[in-house]
Amino acid sequence: MTKAKKLSISVITLFPQFITNFAESFGIIKRAVALKLLDLRAVDLRPFGVDSRQTVDGRPYGGGVGMVLRADVLHKAIRSVSRSRIKDKGLRIILLTPQGKSFTQKEAKRLAKYDSLVLVCGRYEGFDERVRQFADEEISIGDYVLMGGELPALVLSEAVMRLRTGILGKDESADKESFSENLLEYPQYTKPLELQVTSNKKQGTGRKILRVPKVLLSGNHKKINEWRMNESIKRTKKRRPDLLN
Ligand code: ADE
Repeated sequence: MTKAKKLSISVITLFPQFITNFAESFGIIKRAVALKLLDLRAVDLRPFGVDSRQTVDGRPYGGGVGMVLRADVLHKAIRSVSRSRIKDKGLRIILLTPQGKSFTQKEAKRLAKYDSLVLVCGRYEGFDERVRQFADEEISIGDYVLMGGELPALVLSEAVMRLRTGILGKDESADKESFSENLLEYPQYTKPLELQVTSNKKQGTGRKILRVPKVLLSGNHKKINEWRMNESIKRTKKRRPDLLN
């Protein structure tokens, strides 16, 4: 068997601890790092800053509120990671901004084909426009504005890393889940078989038993698979009809 290739993710940020805390907090990630399947590292932007105060930002030309991250500082930081050439094959340089292309499972699958990702986090009012020239693409994790690109970088990293061979441990589980086949996941149950709850709703008796669907206990795998597929379709129609188009 050929050995799975390592995924390297470098996150350029003013808050490196954000990234290192994440990398050190989860068993699956620590294991992947130990097995050399993953190298998730933070690159501190501060040392690339200019002057004695290591300034990384400036006021916008033309006026306006807030501060803008300097293009020269980001250029140096990106270059330090991508080494000689700024646009390299096999390596993808991605800006995290609310103006980027929407991140989806499909995008995660596309990015999982690269062995090396450089994720550049914005802060404050954004980047100097020239920074866009150093990147291959720009990604947004959703139509809302966060204070910086660190959470988006971690969202993207987690979605990509779990698609890579070996990182989850059980290779097959990553691809079957919600969104993978444009269907939401079917309902899952485990013990106990019957769960007695008291409800504080005004209607009803106030007590009920929540049961596991009988078909799941039948041992008939054909029937179970049919039920699961049906539930997936029903759920998708109800919650996310847009996925079925
Ligand atoms: N930075 C701030 N908000 C963001 C978002 N929604 N996606 C990616 N980067 C961001």
